[in-house]
Amino acid sequence: MIEFSNVTKSFGERTILRNLSFTIKPGKITFILGKSGEGKSVTIKHILGLLRPSEGDIFVAGRHVNELQGEPLSQHRQRIGMLFQHAALFDSMTVEDNILFPLRESPDVAASEYQSHKEKVLKQIGLEGIGHKMPSELSTGEKKRVGLARAIVSKPEIILYDEPTTGMDPLVCEMIDELIVQVNNEEKDMTSVVISHDMKAALTTADDIIMLYKGQVVLQGSPEEFKHTDDPVVRQFFAGRVDGPMKLI
Ligand SMILES: Nc1ncnc2c1ncn2[C@@H]1O[C@H](COP(=O)(O)OP(=O)(O)OP(=O)(O)O)[C@@H](O)[C@H]1O
Ligand SMILES: [Mg+2]
Repeated sequence: MIEFSNVTKSFGERTILRNLSFTIKPGKITFILGKSGEGKSVTIKHILGLLRPSEGDIFVAGRHVNELQGEPLSQHRQRIGMLFQHAALFDSMTVEDNILFPLRESPDVAASEYQSHKEKVLKQIGLEGIGHKMPSELSTGEKKRVGLARAIVSKPEIILYDEPTTGMDPLVCEMIDELIVQVNNEEKDMTSVVISHDMKAALTTADDIIMLYKGQVVLQGSPEEFKHTDDPVVRQFFAGRVDGPMKLI
């Protein structure tokens, strides 16, 4: 579904992604792990075509993202749902208008479809009856849910979550992880990509895990493979010493 082939990305003198190659399977939940500054957000910006590689190729659902411009590039972005780290709702719009926003932007959805779409999505994320509220009236967990509803309302082929649980309390984290699994199960054709530095969440939620280190993949595999690997970088990440000895390697 998503393929990075020998992707290098440099900003000036600094190289962030080095000859990075990986494949993400369709319909599954893939976690991309790595410590802060490792290039996780840079990687998803390449998937969206917000950044272009210095070298290498990126393919998403058969499209060669490097080459997209203008209208084909905006259509590409419309096929991808994104849940930002901070829920980023429009404060002056009701929950309902927030959720419907991507549909109003999309030329292929008729106004008559809005209502049924919206009700289905509110039900799916367990927020029936709050459509009329303003974001300021919602709890942090509810805001995240609304952000998720907005990301899935136009039935994207891929949904990207950038650090969906960072800074949340443990109960909200658990709820969001469960919601990611629920949405992925209900929308069989949707591919979920979760950027995270939470190894524990990856082990319980992911079908497949890609761990980035120094701009490359240290290991890609199932949670079971991650639990049993001897790779020193992965073991250090497990031990939570991500900002300690890893810097010296
Ligand atoms: N547009 C840009 N111009 C220059 N440098 C950039 C740009 N975007 C990102 N970087 C640099 O690339 C590196 C990787 O950034 P990135 O945001 O991908 O990290 P991350 O893995 O998402 O970290 P975090 O977990 O903290 O979100 C950082 O050192 C950052 O300063
Ligand atoms: Mg980031």
